[in-house]
Amino acid sequence: MPALRDATRGRILFGGDYNPEQWPEETWADDVRLMKEAGVNSVTLGVFSWARLEPRPGARDFGWLDRLMDLLHAHGVGVVLATPTASPPPWMGSRHPETLPRDEHGQTVWWGSRQQFCASSPTYRAYAAAITEDLAARYGGHPALTMWHINNEYCTHCWCDETARHFRRWLAARYGTVEALNEAWGTAFWSQRYDAWDEIIPPRRAQYMRNPAQQLDFRRFTSDALLECYAAERDIVARHTPLVPVTTNFMPFWVGQDAWAWAGQEDVVSVDIYPDPKDPFGGQYNAMVGDMTRSQANGPWMVMEQAAGPVNWRGVNHPKPPGLNRLLSLQSVARGADAVCYFQWRQSRQGAEKFHSGMVSHAGEEGRTFREVKRIGAELARLGPEVAGARVAADVAVLHDWHAWWAGLQDGMPSREVAYPEVVRAWHRALWENGYAAGFAHPEHDLSGYRMVVVPQLYLLTDAAVENLAGYVAGGGTLVSGFLTGVADEDDRVRTGGMDVRLRELFGIRTLEEWWPLDKGETVACDGFDGTLWSEELEAEGGTEVVAAYRGGELAGLPAVLRRGRAWYVSTLPEPGALRELLGRAAAGAGVRPVVAGLPDLVEAVRRGELLFVLNHGRVPVTVELPDAAGPYRDVLTGAEVAGALELERFGVAVLREAGR
Ligand code: GAL
Ligand code: ZN
Repeated sequence: MPALRDATRGRILFGGDYNPEQWPEETWADDVRLMKEAGVNSVTLGVFSWARLEPRPGARDFGWLDRLMDLLHAHGVGVVLATPTASPPPWMGSRHPETLPRDEHGQTVWWGSRQQFCASSPTYRAYAAAITEDLAARYGGHPALTMWHINNEYCTHCWCDETARHFRRWLAARYGTVEALNEAWGTAFWSQRYDAWDEIIPPRRAQYMRNPAQQLDFRRFTSDALLECYAAERDIVARHTPLVPVTTNFMPFWVGQDAWAWAGQEDVVSVDIYPDPKDPFGGQYNAMVGDMTRSQANGPWMVMEQAAGPVNWRGVNHPKPPGLNRLLSLQSVARGADAVCYFQWRQSRQGAEKFHSGMVSHAGEEGRTFREVKRIGAELARLGPEVAGARVAADVAVLHDWHAWWAGLQDGMPSREVAYPEVVRAWHRALWENGYAAGFAHPEHDLSGYRMVVVPQLYLLTDAAVENLAGYVAGGGTLVSGFLTGVADEDDRVRTGGMDVRLRELFGIRTLEEWWPLDKGETVACDGFDGTLWSEELEAEGGTEVVAAYRGGELAGLPAVLRRGRAWYVSTLPEPGALRELLGRAAAGAGVRPVVAGLPDLVEAVRRGELLFVLNHGRVPVTVELPDAAGPYRDVLTGAEVAGALELERFGVAVLREAGR
């Protein structure tokens, strides 16, 4: 199987989305000149070029792309060539309205933006296959081609009649009979029993709360339907070029795609990362996405897109202060990225993204943004031979599963205040602040390689996952679980008793009587800290250690955090310092140590291969004491020797090789 290393060949890929069709050809010469200056060795071409490549049904205009492929190759820039299928030309919707998505209300989603396609439409799929086939035939042998980029951020939803038929086929494959579906969906409730497949529709707008299992299956189906589109295009390009790796770019923590399942269908896992430059924990977000993507890739991964400056889709769009682009780029490399790319190369002058930054911003080549881009390019060129391909080990796994997230998204849950991604982020932040090497895993993965496993929240757990967790603890692992975990089975059927009985036994919980969710901003006093979001009326089994009890409210005196041996249960969301401290205690018992102990706040250390990355996410300079035993160190970016104390400027980074390694 081809892999990222076939495209990187010992380098770190550096570059970005290149949309030259937005510019006169004279600009192209300037582009390649600046690419060379910046050390760009890879561009992603053709992501939104469908209307240019196929100006009318069946027509082909490849001349401009031929010239670009040759030009880029002549300048040593490799091409990640995209299939243009994320944005069908207007003629498609106009001639084939059935390719346009319908929303939950049955309203048409029109052309004039992008992504206006229905994943279930045979017409869309046929046109997508044809242009993919012709691109692969024409450029499969071109020396500039290094990778295929299928579509872009698959994220569409559709509730149309074609989708309804497709959904029924998917359901028939899952359940076999309508009776089995009725059973799984609990349709005895509210007279929802189906008598025949034809009666089943996507969960369209309805009078009141819709069937939760139907909604869960529709999310599963939609992810699978999009995956079919991806796989169809992948199979076409792979037939032409079996040795060229294939990817599609994820949005991190995107609700619409089960990225564990998708990653297994890709040669390269790539992701688009846009931390808010104003977020004081933007570095933690970047770290979390890196940990997640590396875990999906099970090795080196690719930053397909990030922004060199501001984006233009937030309410208020902040630029990156000097140094932040470099810091986040090197942080991704530290966490296993072998490609650091941007949306986009040259900032547009027209269209909806004209105020979104580019590597070459409107300020031009003399601007600060481009100067920083050049510095990053030069440093990555130096780092490539030292680090490309190297792995990052993790002691701790954070469990995450899209199906659990989806099931918890239904109307009619005990609280609307519980936002799954925020809960996961809070737990990851505690690990990050403690300086542990963490990764992500699916609840059914083999967990035996981790010293500690944390479950921020997995509302839905399959039987296999429950057994996996119990087996992990029985095998000597340390498990720390947050609230609202193990509540429902695979069909979103509640496991009575508040939590699967096997988990209750594991954590030493005798009864879980009621959930007591907290209002927005409300806290509950516990021993030594405040809990947020949630609390629970629990009774511990004899022999269970009550680590902390509730001290206020209706639950005063009852256990808040309890522990049986190596299995910990946290029935609220402790405020950040307390969660950090709690996970610190569990980790110490599990033999998990920070990568480098005693670092100042907002300074992160990551070990990749033989290199130690030390990153200052703070906005003021810091002095970092490095362990003497491993020194003196050599900074591979500057060549300088570092002994004892390391000075880091605001957003500063040092990449160190330890003595004797
Ligand atoms: C991504 C997308 C790019 C561009 C970018 C702007 O979601 O793939 O095409 O729109 O966002 O931040
Ligand atoms: Zn549709």
